[in-house]
Amino acid sequence: MPKTNKNIGSKNPRIWIAGIFVITLFGGYLYQQGSSPLNALANSPSPAEIEQGKKLFAQNCSSCHGVQGVGQNPESPNGGMLDEGGYLAPALNGTGHAWHHPNSVLFKTIKHGSIASDSSMRAFSNRLSDKEIVMIIHYFKSLWPDPIREKHSNLNKEEV
Ligand code: HEC
Repeated sequence: MPKTNKNIGSKNPRIWIAGIFVITLFGGYLYQQGSSPLNALANSPSPAEIEQGKKLFAQNCSSCHGVQGVGQNPESPNGGMLDEGGYLAPALNGTGHAWHHPNSVLFKTIKHGSIASDSSMRAFSNRLSDKEIVMIIHYFKSLWPDPIREKHSNLNKEEV
């Protein structure tokens, strides 16, 4: 058989290695885009995600933050101190201070717990997946009035 150049590409290991490298990089990029909690938080949630977040909030958060995030004491939506010591759980429904925190801080506070070591707000990383935390944040953000959600989304843009 006469030698031809037809298969030169497929026989050249360097081309294969370069191809695999590019595919891996691109795949990694797509994976990151789809799975990062912060990207998920930047997207608009579906009604099903909000509904799921509502259930998870009722199971995990409302014992302290109140039904529908009104706060432990709705008279004091920013939280504060309890008479017997410790902190009051603030409102998360837009009447408190929570919306001053960008998505990244909200996510970290829930996943890893409060930076105040004497706070009853402890880490949920062993009870909730990242996806579940995202759905909970989507839920309580759905309770915020539109102008607050808008200010919050500008805050997230500044942070990037
Ligand atoms: C045992 C009581 C308790 C539970 C349960 C609890 N929290 Fe908290 N949380 C607190 C307290 C108290 C604070 C305020 C003090 C602090 O920030 O450490 C707080 C603070 C927060 C903050 C910061 C709010 C702000 O205005 O700065 C967020 C966000 C939050 N909690 C979300 C959640 C979510 C979501 C859940 C459920 C997955 C949850 N918490 C469950 C007690 C609780």
